[in-house]
Amino acid sequence: GVDPRLQAIKAAIRVVPHFPKPGIMFNDITTLLLRPKVFKDAVEIFVDRYRDMNISAVAGVEARGFIFGTPLALALGAKFVPLRKPKKLPGEVISESYVLEYGTDSLEMHLGSVNRGERVIVIDDLVATGGTLCAAIKLLGMVYLEPCTHNVSNYLCLSLECI
Ligand code: PRP
Repeated sequence: GVDPRLQAIKAAIRVVPHFPKPGIMFNDITTLLLRPKVFKDAVEIFVDRYRDMNISAVAGVEARGFIFGTPLALALGAKFVPLRKPKKLPGEVISESYVLEYGTDSLEMHLGSVNRGERVIVIDDLVATGGTLCAAIKLLGMVYLEPCTHNVSNYLCLSLECI
């Protein structure tokens, strides 16, 4: 059956119409963060799912992927890799641009933060068009020097989740 925790998680996310622009239905997870038990459940669902799966890295998408990704990484004993908006990371980066529901942007990752063959979870608070998540996958895909780039099924155990 359905995990009873999911109902409380869904109810704790506030939906704000016409934010940040007319026509956008904004799913606001700050209301979930105000409820420690629900926030804990949200993280624990992922911890339970990925424990014992030899996950070595959690890549969180700025900004809200950091909120869910860091406790997940700590609980799994994995490293945390921030996928950041442009010009935030001081080291050598790889970047990937994408079209967003309300504009365009790009994500950057420090070179060397994830190595070929690692098992990586990509986490964010939500998927809308999927553009951000696609860019994240492509960034991680650049690490794997296989001929079959940009095909998720060919990445080594790349896991995708959203809450
Ligand atoms: C939101 C959300 C995801 C993305 C989803 O981030 O947190 O990262 O949009 O949209 P998509 O599936 O259409 O790409 P936002 O761009 O608002 O950035 P922020 O988290 O830094 O505020």
